[in-house]
Amino acid sequence: MVPAAGRGERLGPGAPKALRELGGVPLLVHAVRALARSRAIGLVVVAAPPDGVAEVVALLDSHGLDGKDVRVVAGGATRQESVRLGLAAVPEEVGAVLVHDAARPLVPVEVVDAVVAAVRSGADAVVPAVPLADTVKRVEPQQPGVPEPVLETPDRAALRAVQTPQGFRRSVLHEVHEKAVAEESSGGLPPVTDDAGLVERFGGRVVVVPGHEEAFKVTRPLDLVLAEAVLARRRASDGY
Ligand code: CTP
Ligand code: MG
Repeated sequence: MVPAAGRGERLGPGAPKALRELGGVPLLVHAVRALARSRAIGLVVVAAPPDGVAEVVALLDSHGLDGKDVRVVAGGATRQESVRLGLAAVPEEVGAVLVHDAARPLVPVEVVDAVVAAVRSGADAVVPAVPLADTVKRVEPQQPGVPEPVLETPDRAALRAVQTPQGFRRSVLHEVHEKAVAEESSGGLPPVTDDAGLVERFGGRVVVVPGHEEAFKVTRPLDLVLAEAVLARRRASDGY
């Protein structure tokens, strides 16, 4: 399923991020096609901006999607809620679910297939990830303009930057989202920024497989510049 209901605040003013264009095609269409390229994918559920469901249905109808079944539901106020609403549209008999950000339009099919393979060989939850280029420091956050004291420098060799698609046994993902809702209504914890984080929170085992540098998330304006360059190179070199 593809959570695509975010506003894209960090990208700046304009249409919702999933509908912004890359090489003349909306990010969401790139992301859905990237999943559909895998033979393992039969159905794609999209969680659209709540006021943009009809627009997203029309958009996906007008772009050929290799004969895959596509369903569109209204997303929610947080990514976590959008994923939960999308998951509700996945039939019970489906054994494995991938959750892929609409904001990662260029994920190579090899990453999708590696995640599927790891779920099929028995993992409850699988995340693709890459080593970090930058050294990371944990700080004590301060008001803007005030220097932040450093608390520690984790060993970079043991850190990974996590991407999507993240893969799950459907029953596991369903269960942790239900638990998260139950917890929220009793005061609760803040929403997580990825689904594997929910599995971890409730004690499940999550494994990492290799991600890809081209599976980066379009978050800020510079990311769109990079994505345009990657797409232009693909179109020039392999007729992508
Ligand atoms: N997402 C969603 N529903 C929300 C918020 C986010 O489906 N209520 C989706 C986004 O559409 C995106 C993915 O989650 O595909 C990753 O989120 P992010 O990159 O943070 O996107 P936005 O929330 O749209 O961007 P920003 O945080 O800058 O506003
Ligand atoms: Mg966001």
